[in-house]
Amino acid sequence: MDHQDEIVAPARTVTDRGRQHFVVLVANAKGGCGKTTLSTSLASYYASQGRSVTLLDLDPQQSSSQWWRQRTQQGYPAIDLQTVPLDGHFHAGRLQASLREARDMVIIDSPAGLSGPALDALLNISKVVLVPVLPSPIDIRAATRFLQAVMLSPVSRRRPRRLAVIANRARERTRMYGQLEVFLNSLKIPFLTTLRDTQLYVQASGEGCGILDLPDIPPQDRDSWRRVMEWLEVQRHLTRTLPGL
Ligand SMILES: Nc1ncnc2c1ncn2[C@@H]1O[C@H](COP(=O)(O)OP(=O)(O)OP(=O)(O)O)[C@@H](O)[C@H]1O
Ligand SMILES: [Mg+2]
Repeated sequence: MDHQDEIVAPARTVTDRGRQHFVVLVANAKGGCGKTTLSTSLASYYASQGRSVTLLDLDPQQSSSQWWRQRTQQGYPAIDLQTVPLDGHFHAGRLQASLREARDMVIIDSPAGLSGPALDALLNISKVVLVPVLPSPIDIRAATRFLQAVMLSPVSRRRPRRLAVIANRARERTRMYGQLEVFLNSLKIPFLTTLRDTQLYVQASGEGCGILDLPDIPPQDRDSWRRVMEWLEVQRHLTRTLPGL
């Protein structure tokens, strides 16, 4: 019952029973930093590799769901979509139900403004958290607050999350990118890669695919993504072989 969902502490009620899924949470409290772009690109990449993927769209704007509908008309490898909008109330029961139905690999696209019980509950079920950050002073400040919220959350205190940051929409050799790079390198968490600002992401998003599905992708972009995939593979291996971590 919805009312019941709202009054139970979600961090305790949402669990990945048996911890069989590899859940990747893409999150940052800041809007427009690339959460959906990163989530859909990852889901598309894993589907193209023959993996069984669920894309969990928690954003009431449903950008990932729109991308997915576009995708189904284009004949790309199938992705399972689950939609659980996190609006005014957080429904732990619905999230738990969609996780029960989910495939092996779960990519969560979260809404801007993620905090409090919803953030705790998502951290509780996630194996790793990817945080995209844009090169701007406002985005750097917002990312600082969000990373603090993640690291200080009750769930992370019990068991630190595998957390990494990604610079997005970078125009290298600009002063602002330089500042973002200094900031990301100063954190005690992995700075995985820099995704450059290119219309290829806009094109891929319109076609229901990921940038790596497009023909003639520059090697620079492939290399940027390779670093993300390699890190995720290592985390997946570690969480399987050392489940207590
Ligand atoms: N590396 C990039 N290069 C060019 N455009 C990009 C890049 N990353 C994202 N974009 C574009 O920026 C816009 C915002 O990206 P996206 O929707 O992924 O952000 P978001 O964090 O999901 O936003 P919201 O908080 O509203 O959900 C989109 O139009 C997207 O196509
Ligand atoms: Mg989004």
